[in-house]
Amino acid sequence: MAMPKILVLPGSTRAGSHNVKLAALAVKELATIDIDVTRISLADYPLPIFEGELDADGPQPNAAKLKDMIMAHHGVFITSPEYSASVTPLLKNAIDWVSRVRARGEPAYAAFKGRAFAIASASPGRGGGLRSLMALRQILELGCGALVLPEQVAIANADQAFDDMDNLADTDTADLLRAQLARLVDMAQRMM
Ligand SMILES: Cc1cc2nc3c(=O)[nH]c(=O)nc-3n(C[C@H](O)[C@H](O)[C@H](O)COP(=O)(O)O)c2cc1C
Repeated sequence: MAMPKILVLPGSTRAGSHNVKLAALAVKELATIDIDVTRISLADYPLPIFEGELDADGPQPNAAKLKDMIMAHHGVFITSPEYSASVTPLLKNAIDWVSRVRARGEPAYAAFKGRAFAIASASPGRGGGLRSLMALRQILELGCGALVLPEQVAIANADQAFDDMDNLADTDTADLLRAQLARLVDMAQRMM
């Protein structure tokens, strides 16, 4: 059976970001099981804050580029920080812009359909960014019609959660992440 291609997308571009570190770990884990995996940075897709007037001028080239990147993969793994109990404006803005890009004859929200999504968060706080995952799930599922796996991982105390090799120090959490990624691969494969 052909192997699915997985895209890893952090919702932070901060130097030293815990979520970028989690994304890098996901890439390492997926590569270990021979998955074709791509990690991108939203810094490479700069977009203005979405507002209707800008949208009326037509899709932003970077939104179209990001949509194409998502559509070139069968599964998407998003690692999202929690800001004010929700997702980062960076991530929400990117999702909003991508949701507006629609080729002629294409169904709405094409980038979010026909592929599997999995979500995770890392926060230096005790909640691990769990509330951002609830918000992100709502945006992706209810807003964009995406299939989001029920499995999710929230890394609490993220400033102490990674060891010197940037692996998760807690083996139970590391196992949860591996299981989530395996499920993403499985679901993405079914949707190829
Ligand atoms: C505006 C703002 C709001 C935040 N709100 C929360 C929050 O509600 N819950 C939380 O756990 N952390 C919150 N944080 C802390 C972030 O989780 C922390 O900065 C984290 O390191 C950001 O993710 P990153 O390391 O991947 O950049 C907030 C940070 C900022 C800048």
